[in-house]
Amino acid sequence: MRAQVVIVGGGPSGLLLSQLLHRAGIDTVVLERKTKEYVLGRIRAGVLERGMVAQLRAAGAGARMDREGLVHSGTVLSYGDDEIRIDFEQHTGETVLVYGQTEVTRDLYAAREAMGARLEFEVEDVVIEGIEGDGATVSYTQGGNRHSIRCDYVAGCDGYHGVSRKTIPGAVRQEFERIYPFGWLGILADTPPVHDELIYASSDNGFALCSMRSKSRSRYYIQCDIADDPANWSDDAFWDALRRRIPAAYGETLQTGPSIEKSIAPLRSFVCEPMRWGRLFLCGDAAHIVPPTGAKGLNTAASDVHYLSEALISHYAGDHDALDIYAPKALARVWKAERFSWWMTNLMHRFPGQSGFDRRMQQAEVAFLQENEHAQAVLAQNYVGLPY
Ligand code: APR
Ligand code: PHB
Repeated sequence: MRAQVVIVGGGPSGLLLSQLLHRAGIDTVVLERKTKEYVLGRIRAGVLERGMVAQLRAAGAGARMDREGLVHSGTVLSYGDDEIRIDFEQHTGETVLVYGQTEVTRDLYAAREAMGARLEFEVEDVVIEGIEGDGATVSYTQGGNRHSIRCDYVAGCDGYHGVSRKTIPGAVRQEFERIYPFGWLGILADTPPVHDELIYASSDNGFALCSMRSKSRSRYYIQCDIADDPANWSDDAFWDALRRRIPAAYGETLQTGPSIEKSIAPLRSFVCEPMRWGRLFLCGDAAHIVPPTGAKGLNTAASDVHYLSEALISHYAGDHDALDIYAPKALARVWKAERFSWWMTNLMHRFPGQSGFDRRMQQAEVAFLQENEHAQAVLAQNYVGLPY
């Protein structure tokens, strides 16, 4: 078998890249370790920056997003009972779209299938070779048989636990990481959201986030112990803890109900440099992870896909320098999203063993944000997404 670009990983990064390249006449194969149903069963964040929205439209996968996505022109940050509304539209002229990543992935699969894409599921033991030579080979096992594909380039879109990043020799690979000493316990419930905008809530009892998937489906999170188990949390215990972390006025109107999903996610900041090694390009979670505070994970994956698709399209159109631009451009934007998520995580959470001084620093920063329009504008610019 042969393809111009082999894409390892059929999550949002791999699918969007495959779709954009295919529409530009570049031939790809996507290799996914799991089944499509498994990939579509994962529940992830749900805030799309304008850049992601534009790309989904350009990929021909934006129709349902445009119909069902909720336009948000601001968000609320609360600290105890105090609230600050960050007005995205006023400060940036932009909005974000609330539309679940699971739905994005579903729309991308539908668009890929409609174009007759080559998607291989349940592939195991992917091995990437020839990265530094004059052509690469990707081999894998599927249904007990070994296959191999010759290609020009490999896009490593296989997430944090994938094989692509590990293909870059240890001697040249540098990894930067921060692991936060808490997790997020999240639930999904078919109840109307407590507010029509997201609420990022800091309180003496810890952080909470009120988000949504639609006008009748809510997504809530509370900061929890990293070693905690969702089984330790009854729905009632979750709702009580949430109520104690959000401003009292919202606590009173919060509508509770049975959870339809409950899980704990760890919080990590991670970047791998470089994002390119010879014929291999890393994209999305394969190269970097952000903590979910600020919703930058999917959006940063989308900016990688933007730079990589443009680079490959220009390369195949005859621009011999185009591929060299990808890694530095992508990384420059990645680090800014890392900084924003790290800052927002530090600002809003209770840290175990946090001193009185550290707590006062958080409070002073919130007070500054509350009274300073420029500080609000900086937050808004980062939240709606830095330009590509
Ligand atoms: N071979 C083939 N596929 C693999 C392998 C492998 N060795 N390892 C992992 N995969 C697949 C996973 O099963 C998954 O479907 O790669 C895919 C990677 O998808 P994601 O982890 O979703 O990563 P990405 O597509 O970069 O999406 C960006 O944004 O909000 C964040 O973490 C969130 O998923 C999100 C991400
Ligand atoms: C979500 O809706 O799941 C969500 C929203 C915003 C975040 C993180 C997660 O910052």
